[in-house]
Amino acid sequence: MFVSRGCLPHLLEPRAYWCPEQHELEKRKLFASAWHLVGTTADLARPGDFLTCDLFGTPVQVRNFDGRLRALSNVCAHRHSLLTDRARGNSKAMRCQYHGWEYGPSGITRRIPAPENFVPMPDERPCLPAYQLETAGQLVFVRLSREGPSLVEQLGPLHTLCAQRFGERWRPFLAWEPDYEANWKVPVENSLEAYHVPFIHARTFKEDPGEGRSAHWLESGHTSFKTRLPFAHSRVDEWFQRCESWVTRRMTGDSTGEYWQHHDFPNLLFSFTDAVSLCQCVIPTGPATCRAVVRQFSPEKPFGAILETGLARTWGKLKAAITRQILEEDRGIFQSIQKGLAASPHRGLLGRCEERIHAFQGYLESNLSQERSRKPP
Ligand code: FES
Ligand SMILES: [Fe+2]
Repeated sequence: MFVSRGCLPHLLEPRAYWCPEQHELEKRKLFASAWHLVGTTADLARPGDFLTCDLFGTPVQVRNFDGRLRALSNVCAHRHSLLTDRARGNSKAMRCQYHGWEYGPSGITRRIPAPENFVPMPDERPCLPAYQLETAGQLVFVRLSREGPSLVEQLGPLHTLCAQRFGERWRPFLAWEPDYEANWKVPVENSLEAYHVPFIHARTFKEDPGEGRSAHWLESGHTSFKTRLPFAHSRVDEWFQRCESWVTRRMTGDSTGEYWQHHDFPNLLFSFTDAVSLCQCVIPTGPATCRAVVRQFSPEKPFGAILETGLARTWGKLKAAITRQILEEDRGIFQSIQKGLAASPHRGLLGRCEERIHAFQGYLESNLSQERSRKPP
């Protein structure tokens, strides 16, 4: 069932998807104090493991310091070089690639080559800014601003679900960071409706489940969608679906056949089936470009029979390939949407089935319009 009775206004104007002022406003008002997925604890399992990312123009290095995960600036306090250009790796020390300054877990310099050149050292030793880091299960999140909700506060009940569905009994099978030639709201809004399925996913999902097989929840800061999987369209589909249900029961002991999707505003998307947990975080990289951090988990059977462990791994890899295919299908339309937005003479319109987009746009409007009205004309 849908919540709305009729069609809905498209609350955002096309310029909200490309204008630089909107981009700056969103960075400041929405993203600085929100939590962003940067990777998993599996990416940072050993001391010295690190990954780097760019969060809204802020270079960040997330690093394992003897078992403790820390998020620090990736910009050197000496003369501003990036400490490393590598996306991930392992190194003994957090060392700058230019002159070799080394930093400890709090960001304070630990070792400076030829230190006699730097006397007297200022009382306040050079120090990298530290950012907030929290985990939910194996997912690692970073927040840039000191002020803001905790991860538990932001995710609400989803935090418990994430701790379980990305927890130790589950294993990552997909780690992917695609760049999209579109404003970040384009992929987010695309994921909030199944109306496009017959056109964009004609070979995979094939059909929109429609109102009869869907349920929506519109809450403050959050919307959800539930349907029942799978849909059978052919003998092959039917065979695959029976097979999936059997595999799921072997791996998890249960098979509900439910598909859940949650959107935690502004940019976190979660999808769950019995044997798949998917988290996507869409991060703007400019007014009309973005990147998604995608991590998909499936159950692990570490103590199970060899056959079941092998089955779980094969299944995890297969589901990861299917997810990637579906996301590639979506990616194929984003550039055309962005081009249309840049030239659109229309305001747009939302159908009842797109009511989750309306809720999201309402959240954006109420969070950003106050700031706009404070500005002098
Ligand atoms: S810029 Fe990093 S050590 Fe010089
Ligand atoms: Fe899609």
